[in-house]
Amino acid sequence: MQVPWVIPDYQQQDIKAIKKVLQTKWYTMGPEVKKLEDKVSSYLHIKYAVAVNNGSSALDVAIKCLNFQKSDEVIIPALTYIATANAVTNNQGTPVFVDIDDTLNIDPTLIEENITEKTKAIMNIDFGGNVCDYSSLLHLCKKYNLHLLVDGAQSFGSQYKKKMCCTHGLINTTSFHAAKIITTIEGGMVFTAHKELFHKAQMIRNQGQSKRYIHPFFGNNYRMTDINAAMGRSQMDRVNDIIHHRMELARYYKDHLKNVTYPEEHASTKNSHLFFSILIDKREKLRKHLSKNGIETRIHYPYPINKQPIYYTSTIYPKATEVSQRILSIPIYHSLTQNAQDYVIKKINTFTKGI
Ligand SMILES: Cc1ncc(COP(=O)(O)O)c(C=O)c1O
Repeated sequence: MQVPWVIPDYQQQDIKAIKKVLQTKWYTMGPEVKKLEDKVSSYLHIKYAVAVNNGSSALDVAIKCLNFQKSDEVIIPALTYIATANAVTNNQGTPVFVDIDDTLNIDPTLIEENITEKTKAIMNIDFGGNVCDYSSLLHLCKKYNLHLLVDGAQSFGSQYKKKMCCTHGLINTTSFHAAKIITTIEGGMVFTAHKELFHKAQMIRNQGQSKRYIHPFFGNNYRMTDINAAMGRSQMDRVNDIIHHRMELARYYKDHLKNVTYPEEHASTKNSHLFFSILIDKREKLRKHLSKNGIETRIHYPYPINKQPIYYTSTIYPKATEVSQRILSIPIYHSLTQNAQDYVIKKINTFTKGI
């Protein structure tokens, strides 16, 4: 049996929605984009949303909104996708890495010692949908007068104490890449409760333009097409189903997998499970065993960010290092059948029984 790590979810209704846009001949930044923004902001209970062409652009817009100066520092987790760090560096700032905790998110108890007079913001992620400790992050931001910037690329649909993720920061983002929970194929969004930031984000998305050919800000062409937006809007019609189903798949794995451990989860959080990650000592052996049996897996992530050539330092982040050596993300997606999931479970359990 072949079990891919992810299959993007699409239904006939998504294709219909895309076809409809092609017939209207309004292909970019038209009514579908606005409708998607309205639908997502209302789902997240946040006032303003700005759709862009991917999650990395969303991060760039968010950071440009905050007027960082050269050498301003932004505290980020030592284990994340490279886009989190690059968004800071691409805006002449310096990402400062902080080790993660057992939830695989930035460890709030290690942040304070990394704050300097150059620190302007904390940017967190919710690893694979697993929610971080927002109370502590918000407390630190208040105490040191820092912005909270949320890279919510992995946590669409997750919740912290009943408040939707992608909304806790001054400015927040998400990604609608094909492998994400809701997809526009490529796409992303910026969220804020502040009108001024909203207007600025709209301008930055469109070359920093305030009026036609007047450019008070640096920006780029980060516009979303109506074709992508229509796909997202159609997917949003079934968002609750999609997330509920993912959580059921995760529960089923936890009920049936043996001799593996999982990232810890904070109480009063809801994990929408973009990833289903296990932690295991003989990770490479298990990965080979699963691959031989047709099961695709991913490693999120094989190195702490500071072991990437562009960010190399000799510092060791013990938890990020340990997790990068033990983590394995196994298949989870809307159309994963019970049969396929049982097959994955059986293959993992046969392996773990022997170690
Ligand atoms: C944590 C994080 N930030 C940012 C991004 C960038 O999103 P995109 O691939 O849509 O540019 C991703 C993508 O997976 C991500 O995981």
